[in-house]
Parts: sequence; structure tokens; C-alpha cells
Amino acid sequence: MNRQCPINQTAIWAQLHQHQRSTRFLHMRALFEQDTQRFARMHEKLNGLLLDYSKNRITEDTLSLLIELAQAADLHSWMDKMRRGDKINVSEDRAVLHTALRLPEGAEVYVDGHNVVPDIHRELNRALAFAESLHNGIHRGAHGERITDVVNIGIGGSHLGPQMVTLALRPFHQNINIHYVANVDGASLMRVLDHINPATTVFIVASKSFTTPETILNAQTARRWFLQKGFTEADIAQHFVAISSNVDKAQTFGIAPENVFAMFNWVGGRYSVWSTIGLSVMCAIGTRHFRDFLAGGHAMDEHFFHAPLRHNMPVLMGLIGLWYNTFYATTSQAIIPYDHGLRRLPAHLQQLDMESNGKQTGRYGEHLDFDTGPVIWGEEGVNCQHAFFQLLHQGPRLIAADFIVPMNSFYHVSEQHKVLVANALAQTEALMRGKTLDEAYAELAHLDNKQRDMLAPQKVFPGNQPSNTLLLDAVTPFNLGMLLALYEHKVFVQGVIWGINSFDQWGVEYGKVLAKKIEPQLSNTDPLAHDASTNGLIDYFREHHHEHA
Ligand code: F6P
Repeated sequence: MNRQCPINQTAIWAQLHQHQRSTRFLHMRALFEQDTQRFARMHEKLNGLLLDYSKNRITEDTLSLLIELAQAADLHSWMDKMRRGDKINVSEDRAVLHTALRLPEGAEVYVDGHNVVPDIHRELNRALAFAESLHNGIHRGAHGERITDVVNIGIGGSHLGPQMVTLALRPFHQNINIHYVANVDGASLMRVLDHINPATTVFIVASKSFTTPETILNAQTARRWFLQKGFTEADIAQHFVAISSNVDKAQTFGIAPENVFAMFNWVGGRYSVWSTIGLSVMCAIGTRHFRDFLAGGHAMDEHFFHAPLRHNMPVLMGLIGLWYNTFYATTSQAIIPYDHGLRRLPAHLQQLDMESNGKQTGRYGEHLDFDTGPVIWGEEGVNCQHAFFQLLHQGPRLIAADFIVPMNSFYHVSEQHKVLVANALAQTEALMRGKTLDEAYAELAHLDNKQRDMLAPQKVFPGNQPSNTLLLDAVTPFNLGMLLALYEHKVFVQGVIWGINSFDQWGVEYGKVLAKKIEPQLSNTDPLAHDASTNGLIDYFREHHHEHA
């Protein structure tokens, strides 16, 4: 890969800093008052999705400069590299091909001279056929009973994406209950095992590497539990399947070869819900809906790869986010879905964004001397209005928020849905407009002067708090596919401009190594050689932990 000029040494970078200094006191309220066409110019539509980005601290000049920045970072050529399977994950020498997972049959993408699309569809079709065999009762438990429950054991990308999609698409579920176990905290597995019948349950062990200790320990415990319930080793084949790029390891664990669904090393965990890692989603929603989900992702890919930058949703969201992170030095980005089904979206996007761009080293090993990946956080609306919105409205920090709002609900409570939507739109308006001191005084005209002087300043809202609003027709598999792919590409755009390899995660590894060292020390009495705090905490655990008989 050719090195580019470090992005913060380009002329456009300096121009953007200068532009930020000269526009930072512009208030969005004034921008809307001056330009009645602001919404018309600053929204984009794609199929069942609308992105309104007009409530941001930007002008047309800001957008032009940001687009110039994208061009200076060679965004188009990185998009091409990703799409055609170049090994842009340089530290792991891997292609990055989650977009290939959403390609229709017959397409071609080559990795090391091999067209991977037939492999993708072979494994996808195997996984879909397995899910169908549960739905139609052809695959049954070892005692001949119909499967009613599926437990996905996985963590990180092998958990968050599938769980989020499964919850979001609840109205599309078929006849199987889906459970998720991730944490090595025994409570996570035990609380599921308490409610299921081994005779009617299939466990999916989902692990790209098949070496993640949390997943392997949970899978071993689930297997022991299964055998203690009167089943035999021979019965495991009917009740345990695995998804991994390490097929040999899955077989060594005891999973029958025909029950191992392959995934590919060029799919990052946090981008893998589209692969066989989505098996639990397939079990939830079935073939037709899963294919719709893939089609939604593909529709966003086509838009991303072909739309001009100025009208390209992921590019616009990436650039606007970067405008705040890097040029306003903000540190966080809120994700607020006004949809109960999307309540795990903030958690999924946390991994997607923070594991991808939470880095201060560039893809060639250079130190990046500017602010990069934001802290992603959020919660479903309206619940969060009664929790942290006070800080968004009157706290001192600039915090950008994405509001994700379906216009239609699958539940026949139209009145409630309108209240939900009204709240979402009202928040974006209030955050943008704010309330001036004069307006606060005018509202308190009925009070005496002393009370007004005390209360009015407390009712001032600075406003100018930016937001994007994403309106979906409804949370259908297709629309959800578009939404997820939109965020994946947004993260990619930012990573490219910052010069980050968004597809490795070395930071996660260090903690794992230290945990391996500490684990035996919790059970033995060997002398400790950590820092005084860690030594003290290990000693305290040794004194206070009680082994179960
Ligand atoms: O948290 C680190 C990580 O490697 C993630 O990137 C990944 O999604 C997760 O662990 C689980 O990994 P695996 O699917 O290999 O068990």
C-alpha cells in the first residue's frame, strides 16, 4: 500500500481548522432562519430511508471543504480497494469483504486469485437450510422432539450484531425462541439454561477464531449441562452446531463436520452478522427475511460505491462526524433509536465504531496527532429523555446525536407511535433551537421580578446541539440492512480520512493476555509481582472468594 501525505499536513486540513475558527459562533437557529431551503438541500433519501443532516453546525462551505478532505485522503481509491478485495487490513494482511457477503449470486470478487462469492453463497445456503430444517421440523432433537429454542453462544461481533438484529426484527420471527449468551459470568448462561429444555434446544457456538475463552468456557459448560440431562455424546450432533473460520478447532471441540458453518478470515467480527455468524438471526426470521436483510445491506453498498460524495449518505455522516471529532475536538457521539426493537443498536455500534477507529496509530505505524474515533453511547428514546437528555440540553459540552426513528410501527397502537415520533422530532428541534434569555423571561411574565430573575437563566437552553435524523419507513429486514451498512461505511470513511486501519483490534489483545496471567493467581498462593493495587485486589479476592462445593 502506498503511503499518502499525513492528512494533518495537507492544506485542506489547515483550511478546515481555519473554517472552524471562523464559523464556530454561528447558531443553527440563525442558519435555518436565513435559509428556508436548508432542509431541502440537506437531506438524502434511499429506498425506505431518509437522512436529514440539516441540523448540524455546517454550511455549504463546510461540506465543500470536508469533501475536499475526503478527496485528499483518496477516499474513492480506498473504497475501490475494499470493494475489489485488496488486503487493506494491512496489519493482519487480510482483505476486508463484508460487502461481498451481501452480493447476489453470480457476482465476482477475488482474494488471492480465487472468486469468493460462490463460497459465500455455499455457506449461506447451508446455514439457511439448517435454519429452515428447524422451522419445518425436519431437524429434530435426539429424542425426536421439535426444536423450540436456539441459544447463541458468542461474544463481541459473534454476539452483538446477531442479538441486535434479532431483537430489532421481532415482528418477523417465526416459531423459534432465540437466546443469547455472551459473558463468561456464569449468570449469563445459567439464566438461559434455567428456562430451556435440552431435548428441544440447539446451541450455536459462534466464534470466528474458536479460541475466545469466554465462548469456549460457556460452550463447554452448556455441553456438560446437556450431558448431565440424560443425553449422550452421540446426541451432541443433533444439539450443537458451530460457526467458525477455524473449522478444525470446532471439530476438535466435538462438533460434527456437517454442523460446522464456515466463515472467512476476511470478515471482521464486528462486520460479520451478514455471514454465517447470522445463523441465529436466520433461525429467528427465516430465509426470505434474511435475504431481504442482505439485500438492504447491498442496496446501501451500491449507493456508497456509486453516489457522488455530496449526496452519499455514509460519506456525509462520516464527514460531519469527523468535523466534530477532529475539528471541534468533541469526544462523543450519541445514538438514540426511537424504537424498542433497536435498543441494542447503540451497543452494536459501540463495538463497530470504537473497536474500528478507537486508535491513535495510523495504518503505517505512525502516531496520529489529532482526535479520532468518538465514544459511542446511547439508549432507546424516549426512555433516555428521562435520563441523560438534561445534559444534552443544558450541559456545557457539544455532543452530536443520531436520532433513528421508524415512521410506522408493527404494533397497532398508532396513537402511541405518534407520541414517540413527536418526542423524537421535538428533541431534535429543541437541541437545535435552544431558548434565549429573552424567551425565558417572556414565558415567565406572570411571575414577579425577583422570581423571574432567579428562574429565567435556569430556563435558558443554549441550543446549537447538532443531530442527524434517520427516518425509516419501518424497521423491516431490508431497511435494517441499509441502516447497518450505512454505519459500517460511515466508520470506514472516517477511518480512511484519519489514516486508520479500521479492521484490526490490537488493543483488545493486551487485556486478554493479562487476564490469562491473573486467572491462576486467583486460585494459588504464589507471590505476586504486579503493581500494589493489582496485588492488593488479588489478595483481597483470595481472602474473600468462596469456592462452590
Ligand atoms: O473483542 C475482540 C474480538 O476479537 C472481536 O473483534 C470479536 O468480535 C470477538 O473478540 C469475538 O471473537 P470470536 O468470534 O473469534 O470468538
